[in-house]
Amino acid sequence: MATERTFVMLKPDAVERRLIGELIRRIEQKNLNIVALKMMRIERKLAETHYGEHREKPFFRELVDFVTGGPAVAMIVEGPNAISVMRAMMGATNPFNAAPGTVRGDLGLDLTENLIHGSDSPESAKREITLFFGESPSP
Ligand code: RTP
Ligand code: MG
Repeated sequence: MATERTFVMLKPDAVERRLIGELIRRIEQKNLNIVALKMMRIERKLAETHYGEHREKPFFRELVDFVTGGPAVAMIVEGPNAISVMRAMMGATNPFNAAPGTVRGDLGLDLTENLIHGSDSPESAKREITLFFGESPSP
């Protein structure tokens, strides 16, 4: 199984709801490694670049307003198949569809404010890790 690194963000709603500990607990209990972590206020330009694939979507403005609206926690998470493992732990984008046992299924009730971001592919992981941490994503 390939060791991968993925970019994870605990979104501002998670910080505001004091769920940092709960979300980190889930990542650690899965036995993934948190290899970098910082709390930060995401600047507008960074948010727009990070979510660039959604630039033309009707929810883009709301999404950028949301992720820049308060402090977030950015992480690099490493482990076997870390990218897909994190995506599975997060659950479906829409918390109404997210399975129980997932972060969004257990803790979320809002499509925009859905607590957590995880890279969706090796290409995204590399791009997002460089964007937020400016370091090589190789393990
Ligand atoms: P993320 O990128 O944050 O990990 O989430 P994702 O892959 O599960 O979902 P994606 O399609 O990439 O959407 C990015 C974020 O945009 C917000 N969203 N709002 N109002 C809407 O219709 C809508 N759709 C998506 C969510 O915060 C979603 O996580
Ligand atoms: Mg996405």
